[in-house]
Formats: sequence, C-alpha cells, structure tokens
Amino acid sequence: MTDQSPSNAASPQSIPRKLTIAIDGPAGSGKSSVAQRVAQVLGYPYLDSGAMYRALALKALLDNGLALSSEKQLAKLAAETQIELRPTPIELLQQGVKNRVFLDGLEVTQAIRTPEVAQAASQVAVVAKVRELLVAQQQRTGAGGGIVMEGRDIGTVVFPNAELKIFLEAAPETRAERRRKEHEEKGEHLTFEQVLEEVHERDKRDRERKVSPLVRAADAVLVDNTAMGIEETARLIVLLAQEREKDFARTMRRET
Ligand code: CDP
Ligand code: CDP
Repeated sequence: MTDQSPSNAASPQSIPRKLTIAIDGPAGSGKSSVAQRVAQVLGYPYLDSGAMYRALALKALLDNGLALSSEKQLAKLAAETQIELRPTPIELLQQGVKNRVFLDGLEVTQAIRTPEVAQAASQVAVVAKVRELLVAQQQRTGAGGGIVMEGRDIGTVVFPNAELKIFLEAAPETRAERRRKEHEEKGEHLTFEQVLEEVHERDKRDRERKVSPLVRAADAVLVDNTAMGIEETARLIVLLAQEREKDFARTMRRET
C-alpha cells in the first residue's frame, strides 16, 4: 500500500503529537464522510479499510468459478491479490469519493460502490485468513500513527491502542435513506425498502460473524449522528482529538 502523506499538516503547536484515530460503525453511519473531514482538518491521512474488502469482493465476483461461500478459495484469492489505496484528488472528493482504490494495478474506485459488491464484501469479510492479510496491511500503513482509519474493527483489532476511538451510529432508517440518496445521485433507482433490507442484512452479518465482529470497543466514544450533519459530527470528533493531543502534550511535559 502506498504511504499517504498529510495534505495540509497543521503547525507543531496545534498538533503536539500525532494520534491514531479509529472510527468504526455500521453501514451508512457516516464513517467515510466524517473520517475524511476529520483527517482533512487535522492534516492526517485517511484510510477507508472497507474499500479493501470491497476490492477483494469485486475480484471474487468477477471470477465465475469462485464460490463466495468457500473460505479456502477466498483465502487463496486474498493471498494472490494486491490492493492499494491512494489519497483522493480534490475533484473526486467533491463527488464523495474517499480513497482511490487499485486492484492488481487497475483502478476500481467507482466499480466497488455497488450494492452487490457491498454484500459480497461482507461475505469475504467473515473469512479469518482474508482478515489476517488485510489487517496486517492496514497495520503497516498506520504504523507511524497520525492517521484516521475507518471500518468495523479498527478500534478493536487493527489498532486496539488507538488514542481516540469513535463508534459512529445512526438509526437504520436514516442510514438506509442516506445510502438510497447516494445511489439516486448516481442514477441508480433503488427503493428505500430495498436499501433498508441490504443495510439490515449486512449489519447482521457484520455484527454476528465469529471473527472481529462489529462491536463498540469498551473505550470508544459513542457518537449517534442520526440528527447531525457531516460537518457537525466531524467538528465534535476534531474537538475530542484536540483534547487528546493536549493530554499527550501534558504527559510529555511531565515526563521531561
Ligand atoms: O462510510 P459509511 O457507510 O459509514 O457512511 P458514508 O458513506 O460516509 O455516508 C453515507 C451517506 O450519508 C453519504 O452520502 C453522506 O453524505 C451521508 N451522511 C449524511 O447525510 N449525514 C451524516 N451525518 C453522515 C453521512
Ligand atoms: O461504506 P459501508 O459502511 O457501507 O461499507 P464499507 O465500510 O465499505 O465495508 C464493506 C464491508 O466490508 C462491510 O459490510 C464489512 O463486512 C466489511 N468490513 C470489515 O469487515 N471490516 C472493516 N474494517 C471494514 C469493512
């Protein structure tokens, strides 16, 4: 994976130490939009871990001979696959694209954003070996700290020692309506009921799987943004991050 350097790094006074910020939550809770905004304000790189599961799922769907129910085949596929996330250029950011995604060198940034790929992603994500490989890649990318990473298991498994963990929630109906609108803007007309069912099905699979299920880490701050916009939610998280940064500065001063 390509290292991503901060786009608008703040001054050393405003960021005494770079934090690892983990944002987890169910589909449509606003993780990508909010995490991207938080990263932009703090001058941190941003990583959408879900895009990696989606990219692998796309490859699995394109392989006619492969059964999504076969853990063995999916594990083999994951070991043979190269997934790379790159920062998003500004014009794509405005269209709601988060990271640019490359699958074995080919760009799949838009191709992975379909309901079929979302469902398949949650199927490949139940396979322990798949998670092991993708988690290791995510850990390498965030090893130096100073990153905002979002997904399902960032605060519980990928970075259990993250200095700030957020569990983002929103009512299922709100999440489904957000997703429906997104599809509509792309010219894909899905009914609210179709999207709600997709969201419920994926939530259930993500929350009930044996390996790294979607759960709130005990030390994660629960943020319900059902009635909050992206900007407002991001501002709240930035304030929490700035508090944590000050705590670090105080600890470091005491220690020196
Ligand atoms: O990444 P995740 O699936 O958690 O959600 P997202 O892709 O960031 O957000 C899904 C949709 O909801 C996007 O179109 C966002 O613009 C919208 N959204 C919103 O309207 N209000 C929020 N507080 C958060 C997201
Ligand atoms: O954007 P949305 O919240 O709809 O989904 P996503 O973040 O793109 O993730 C797609 C699927 O990948 C999820 O439904 C999960 O099954 C899986 N995933 C995961 O298991 N662990 C992560 N850290 C991120 C995503």
